[in-house]
Amino acid sequence: MDPEDLNIPPMKDLTIDNITENTVVINSQGSDQRLTYVMERLVSHLHDFARETRLSTTEWMAALNFLVKVGQISTDVRHEFILLSDILGLSLLVDAIDHPKPPTSTEGSVLGPFHTHDPPVIDNGSSMSSDPEGEPCLVVCTILDQSGKPISDVKIDIWETDSTGHYDVQYSDLQSPDGRCVMKSDEKGVFWFKAIVPVPYPIPHDGPVGQLLKLLKRHPWRPAHMHFMFEKKGWDHLITALYMRNDPYETSDAVFGVKQSLIVDFTTADAETAKKYGVQEGTKLLKHDFVLVSEEETEKLRDENALKALKALGIKVKLIDHLPVPDLD
Ligand code: BEZ
Ligand code: FE
Repeated sequence: MDPEDLNIPPMKDLTIDNITENTVVINSQGSDQRLTYVMERLVSHLHDFARETRLSTTEWMAALNFLVKVGQISTDVRHEFILLSDILGLSLLVDAIDHPKPPTSTEGSVLGPFHTHDPPVIDNGSSMSSDPEGEPCLVVCTILDQSGKPISDVKIDIWETDSTGHYDVQYSDLQSPDGRCVMKSDEKGVFWFKAIVPVPYPIPHDGPVGQLLKLLKRHPWRPAHMHFMFEKKGWDHLITALYMRNDPYETSDAVFGVKQSLIVDFTTADAETAKKYGVQEGTKLLKHDFVLVSEEETEKLRDENALKALKALGIKVKLIDHLPVPDLD
């Protein structure tokens, strides 16, 4: 590009006080209004952060080296950046912004780094865990809309650790997926399967994110939970988890995923239930109704929340593809 063609003010001798506005100007030449806005806010907050903390060169380099380490340990099955986002509370924050939930619906929780795209598809009644050491449980669920009507044909991803607190992908000698499956809800919105009772486990903490937790005197534990992801056209994508009541880490989850409405009680299958579902009487039983929200309602709620939040910040915006950009008109 010919420097003569640049439509920007001359940039030289930039200072602590004017580097931000100049960086914003040079980043504002593209035609993607959303990218321009996101970059403008990112640069502004980053620069303010450096000014406010009086960031030293040593600290800045330590942060860059930390990010290099996060990248170096990352693989297809070791998502250290997701982990970093999780322990910073960013994952939960983004989910809450992008998937707002009306009060009567099932709340979201963190996806985490252990969802995979190749689990076995199983039918109602099958088992999704082959761990002989795990305590067997029966899980019987219904998917409903907000008026209580069942939603059939929803694709459900389910995943949990084995009894030692490890996901299948954490084993280097893994032969085939275990502790995970994909199901479809039937015409009554029901899906049911056999699994093992979840156990608490530490998130991977042998890498840079673990070192950071240690420096911050934070523990790496997650309370016992089972993950669920729901997908059906016309319905807002729901990523959530159910947490077992009275887990020792219920109120100090390393990644902030627990919500009161997602805490559940296991009971035990009585003789009739055991017979109906083909399990032993006394088997641990989890029954739960999930409530999905239409895409249309979620979009409306997201738009309203965005306009309200930015108005409160005194920023005049319009929405493009349901995402805010400055309204310069
Ligand atoms: C999980 O629940 O699988 C998880 C979530 C965040 C970080 C690590 C693990
Ligand atoms: Fe998990």
